[in-house]
Amino acid sequence: MQPPHLLLFLFLPFILPEMWADPEEPQVLQILQTSFFANISSAEMSCVAFLGDVPIFALDPDNWSIYFHWPWASQAAAEGDVENIKSHSKLFLRNMVRYVHKTAQQAQLDYPLVVQIRVGCVLHPNGTSWGFLNIGEGGEDLISFEVERQRWEPQKPFPLAELVRKSLTSNRAITGLLEHLLSISCRSYILTLRKYGRTDLERQEPPVATVFVCTPSPAQLLLVCRVTGFYPRPISVAWLRDGQEVPPGPALNTSAIPPNALSGAFGGGSTGWFCVGISSTPDSYSHA
Ligand SMILES: *[C@@H]1O[C@H](CO)[C@@H](O)[C@H](O)[C@H]1NC(C)=O
Ligand SMILES: *[C@@H]1O[C@H](CO)[C@@H](O)[C@H](O)[C@H]1NC(C)=O
Ligand SMILES: *[C@@H]1O[C@H](CO)[C@@H](O)[C@H](O)[C@H]1NC(C)=O
Ligand SMILES: *[C@@H]1O[C@H](CO)[C@@H](O)[C@H](O)[C@H]1NC(C)=O
Repeated sequence: MQPPHLLLFLFLPFILPEMWADPEEPQVLQILQTSFFANISSAEMSCVAFLGDVPIFALDPDNWSIYFHWPWASQAAAEGDVENIKSHSKLFLRNMVRYVHKTAQQAQLDYPLVVQIRVGCVLHPNGTSWGFLNIGEGGEDLISFEVERQRWEPQKPFPLAELVRKSLTSNRAITGLLEHLLSISCRSYILTLRKYGRTDLERQEPPVATVFVCTPSPAQLLLVCRVTGFYPRPISVAWLRDGQEVPPGPALNTSAIPPNALSGAFGGGSTGWFCVGISSTPDSYSHA
C-alpha cells in the first residue's frame, strides 16, 4: 500500500473543455414561472428567463416589473415583440391569477395551489425552431400546448386537465397569440440576443480543478475532484495516471457528470461538478 499522497500525484485529473460556444448546439430560450396561491385572495410569482445557462430577465416579485440582467438583453428586447410582452406583462399576470382562481373554484381545488409554467423555444443549428409551453399544477404535468397543431394536450387524465383544455381551447385569441410568440417572436429574440450579447454569451472561463484526498480505511483511498468556475457548460474530465489517461473500466468507474447548478454555471467560482475515485487497493478505484 503506497501512502495516499503518492497516489494523489498518480491520479491527476485532466480537464478537457469541449468546443467553446459550439454553434452546432441547439439553443434554448425558456421562461420558468412559478406561482403560489395560498388562498383565494393571494398570489405570489417568481419568473426567470434563461438563454442556455445565461439569465436574461426576471420578474421582480414585489411589483411584478420585469428587469433585464444585461443592457444588451434589454436592447435586444426593444427590437422585437418582447418589448410589447413586457409592457403587457402585468396585465397578463393579473389575468392569469384571475383564471387560476376561477378554475380552482370550478374544479373545487383546495388551496394552496402551485402552478408552474415552462415556455420558450429551441433554435436548431439548421435555423428551424420549435416552441414549447408546459403547465404543471401541484408538481405534476397538467397540460401542454402543441405549437404546430395549435392544440392543448392534457398530460394526465385528470378532470382538471380536461377543464383547462376546454377553456383554453375555446379562447382562440390566446391560441393564435401563443402560436405567433412561440414560433416567431421567441426565435427572433434568440437571434437578436446572440447579436447584441455575443461578448457575454460566448465568454469562456477556464475550469479550476481542486483534488481532495482522504483514506476511509487503511486499504482505501478516496479522491474527489471538484471542477468549478468554468463556462460554458460542456466539459469532460479524465483521470491521468503517470501521464496516461485511465479510461473507465473495471479499475475505474466514473459516474455521469452531474450538471452545473444553474447559478454556478454562470456565476463563476461556484460549485460545478465532482468526480470521485475510490481506491480499494492501490490498483483499483471506483466512483462513489
Ligand atoms: C391569504 O394568504 C396570504 C399569504 O399567505 C395571507 O397573508 C392572507 O392573510 C391570507 N388571506 C386569507 C383571507 O386567508
Ligand atoms: C420594482 O421594485 C424594485 C425593487 O424591489 C425597484 O428597483 C424597481 O424600480 C421597481 N419597479 C417599478 C416599476 O416600480
Ligand atoms: C432541423 O434540425 C432539427 C433538429 O435536428 C430537425 O428535427 C429538423 O427536421 C431539421 N429541419 C430541417 C428543415 O432540416
Ligand atoms: C466497475 O463496474 C464494473 C461493471 O459495471 C464492475 O464489474 C467492477 O467491479 C466495478 N469496479 C469497481 C472497482 O467497483
